[in-house]
Amino acid sequence: MTKRLAVLLLLAVLESSCTTLPRNLYVRDIITQDDVQQSYDYIIAGGGTAGLVVASRLSENADTTVLVVETGLTGDDVASSINPPDGAFYSSIVGTDYDWQHVTVSQPNLNNRVVSWPRGKVLGGSSAMNAMYQVRPSTTEMDAWNEINGIDPSSTGGDWGWDSMYAYMKKSENFVAPNDALLEYLPIAYNASSYGSGGPMQVSYPQMMINIVSNWTSSLAAAGIPPLLNPNSGTTLGGFITPSSINPSNWTRSYSRSAYIDPLPPRSNLHILPGTTLVRIVLSNATDGSGNLYATGVEFAQNGAAPRVTVGVKKEVILAGGALGSPKVLMLSGVGPKDVLANASVPLLLELPGVGQHLQDHLTAGVVWNTAVETAGSIHDSNSDFSKTPEFMSVINDAVAFVNSSALFNGGSVSDFQNQILAALNDSAATLVPSQDASIVEGYKAVYQTLANTFLPDVAQIEMLMSIVGSGSVTIQSAIQHPFSRGRTYINSNNPFDPIIIDPQYYSHFADVIIMRQGIKLVRQVGAAFGALFEDETSPGPNIQTDADIDNWLVQNGAGTQYHPTASCSMLPKDQGGVVDRNLLVYGLGNVRVADASIFPFEFAAHLQSATYGVGEQAADLIKGSSYTVPTSFIAPFAITYPANSSDKASDARYSRTYPSYILTLVVIASCAFHYVL
Ligand SMILES: Cc1cc2nc3c(=O)[nH]c(=O)nc-3n(C[C@H](O)[C@H](O)[C@H](O)COP(=O)(O)OP(=O)(O)OC[C@H]3O[C@@H](n4cnc5c(N)ncnc54)[C@H](O)[C@@H]3O)c2cc1C
Ligand SMILES: *[C@@H]1O[C@H](CO)[C@@H](O)[C@H](O)[C@H]1NC(C)=O
Ligand SMILES: *[C@@H]1O[C@H](CO)[C@@H](O)[C@H](O)[C@H]1NC(C)=O
Ligand SMILES: *[C@@H]1O[C@H](CO)[C@@H](O)[C@H](O)[C@H]1NC(C)=O
Ligand SMILES: *[C@@H]1O[C@H](CO)[C@@H](O)[C@H](O)[C@H]1NC(C)=O
Ligand SMILES: *[C@@H]1O[C@H](CO)[C@@H](O)[C@H](O)[C@H]1NC(C)=O
Ligand SMILES: *[C@@H]1O[C@H](CO)[C@@H](O)[C@H](O)[C@H]1NC(C)=O
Ligand SMILES: *[C@@H]1O[C@H](CO)[C@@H](O)[C@H](O)[C@H]1NC(C)=O
Ligand SMILES: *[C@@H]1O[C@H](CO)[C@@H](O)[C@H](O)[C@H]1NC(C)=O
Repeated sequence: MTKRLAVLLLLAVLESSCTTLPRNLYVRDIITQDDVQQSYDYIIAGGGTAGLVVASRLSENADTTVLVVETGLTGDDVASSINPPDGAFYSSIVGTDYDWQHVTVSQPNLNNRVVSWPRGKVLGGSSAMNAMYQVRPSTTEMDAWNEINGIDPSSTGGDWGWDSMYAYMKKSENFVAPNDALLEYLPIAYNASSYGSGGPMQVSYPQMMINIVSNWTSSLAAAGIPPLLNPNSGTTLGGFITPSSINPSNWTRSYSRSAYIDPLPPRSNLHILPGTTLVRIVLSNATDGSGNLYATGVEFAQNGAAPRVTVGVKKEVILAGGALGSPKVLMLSGVGPKDVLANASVPLLLELPGVGQHLQDHLTAGVVWNTAVETAGSIHDSNSDFSKTPEFMSVINDAVAFVNSSALFNGGSVSDFQNQILAALNDSAATLVPSQDASIVEGYKAVYQTLANTFLPDVAQIEMLMSIVGSGSVTIQSAIQHPFSRGRTYINSNNPFDPIIIDPQYYSHFADVIIMRQGIKLVRQVGAAFGALFEDETSPGPNIQTDADIDNWLVQNGAGTQYHPTASCSMLPKDQGGVVDRNLLVYGLGNVRVADASIFPFEFAAHLQSATYGVGEQAADLIKGSSYTVPTSFIAPFAITYPANSSDKASDARYSRTYPSYILTLVVIASCAFHYVL
């Protein structure tokens, strides 16, 4: 009798604790460090754009356990900034604690300026803060990715050519056509069959648009740039209204968390641990005579002073920390360029010169005009009731154009320019590559030849974007798409909480300056075609006219990032400074892959998210198709260690638990079952 009463009392207590559990978080499988298991099949470093795609797909199999470790928080506290599309401009998380707030080193060719490189530090990563443009690379660029890697698409393994990646990009999408009210304002050209249907990412258009956007494609045409009638289907040349990663069912941002995680039913095999940084992969010698090293676990921590937790890995580690995060984890794990690791006092376990090299970015600069016509900015600033409606808050920039070198040089001197670039190949390789390791120089040359011989004549060199988010002004930006300059990113300390060093070496190659200058001139022609809709040019302004003036302006203050860093873990042959092979496996590591925007061997004439979702989708298939299993005796044992100067070890009860974590899980499940039965 007393026994039964005690059991009932205990259950009542547990039941009440159950009612206080944050159920909405449990639904999304978000855990705290206390709930972490001793080991997982797959551990993903970074819950960003691609990381959550991989996590969602791998955990479809209920027998597979997956842990995602994400430095940032869930983002729930800033949902009202993340969700509305126009939040990308008016309440952006850029510059907040949800942004890594990286900056480059001082750039000698930009008058020693440093350039901000925001990156999402939140579940969803940069897809939670980006501008939502959904633009794919072209057939030519995707096929060149296979070619430079010597990949025969009919052979077994990863296939990065157009046919394969088009299917993977579509797999991530659910396209919804523009509504009739919008089409009345704006003659949007699209073909629904160029997009996916039924995938997690919502791809559509805002609910309404501002009138001046309807003058975009006609003004471009007047300046000699024809409209692109079927965007995102393989050719990216001409002007168009791009779709966005927007969910038209409630006019919210569709990003990797809201697309791939939130709609899932609870998955007990998927654990997402926010607020925690993966500091190191635990590597062991080969168990199979291959000579490779193998990941047997990972180490993570909440901050520099917090305990380090080691969790075992039974199958694979997937790095999805982005173009800055993934090379950093490799280097901190002892995998990277010998000189960098020596400088940072990290013991070298595997020399891999390409880690952090080949870094590229899109530079952008804008011409600004005054305008008397309505803009999104003028409506926003009016603070009217209308400006607070979901209809208006769905408005984002979507007027873009991609132009090739014949448009940039008015058909004239492209082959002269191409010859100058090709003649400078050896000199550029010898002087502009930040590592003189022979493999990095070879990789630079290989990519350079692809850029000069194939991309320069055949694919877009500049993207133009019209921004209407200013009040009383309109901006048309021009962004270089295939830079010849090369940078690198590296560590200079073995403290994982120290920032990574970023040096894109902007404008170190002369061709980049010329392409940017031609882009500004073309933007001015487009601006002129807007006629009276555009008034005075306020930046760079009428005084900046000659080539020398424009170049000088671009150097002094005219250029910044388009937010597209890539190639720091390039998929290239190992003897060209590659980091991953066609299956995304890091050279020399048997069960560590990279799956994010760091693996593209070169920039695309596109925004990077569509291709990044495609990488996540293909990565999941490659991983599912692989059978490697870490021998049980090698799996790193669960362990908690303390930083040398930590004084709170004894008092930190959370880390002295003596029961396995599944007991707690069982108790919680039992008490919740009890709660719902009642
Ligand atoms: C301001 C801005 C605007 C952009 N606009 C567009 C646009 O309009 N259209 C478009 O297509 N693209 C745009 N981009 C680019 C695009 O969003 C990115 O290229 C893409 O999201 C990168 O995805 P990723 O998976 O490589 O990295 P991310 O999405 O950045 O994910 C990396 C994740 O890993 C986490 N992380 C890093 N290191 C660790 C670690 N050691 N341990 C644990 N977690 C870690 C990070 O916190 C982050 O959440 C924009 C980017 C920015 C920043
Ligand atoms: C849309 O694309 C499909 C597939 O390429 C094609 O068959 C169809 O004709 C296109 N539709 C239009 C209206 O262009
Ligand atoms: C802008 O577009 C509107 C709607 O298509 C059109 O009526 C107007 O003439 C255009 N203005 C200019 C200057 O082209
Ligand atoms: C360059 O772009 C224009 C239109 O944008 C196109 O008509 C032309 O065929 C392109 N040139 C090449 C070589 O692709
Ligand atoms: C918007 O709708 C989707 C379903 O299509 C849902 O998952 C998401 O939570 C909604 N977002 C908001 C902020 O209501
Ligand atoms: C691998 O084995 C070699 C030779 O015994 C040893 O020096 C090295 O430290 C080992 N590496 C790892 C990662 O265990
Ligand atoms: C001790 O921890 C603090 C807090 O993280 C850190 O700033 C400091 O550098 C550490 N000191 C040593 C000697 O590691
Ligand atoms: C190593 O550090 C020195 C001194 O700070 C620096 O000059 C050098 O460039 C560094 N080397 C690498 C590869 O980072
Ligand atoms: C670059 O150097 C290689 C080998 O030294 C040579 O074969 C090639 O012709 C050179 N290329 C140019 C464009 O000078």
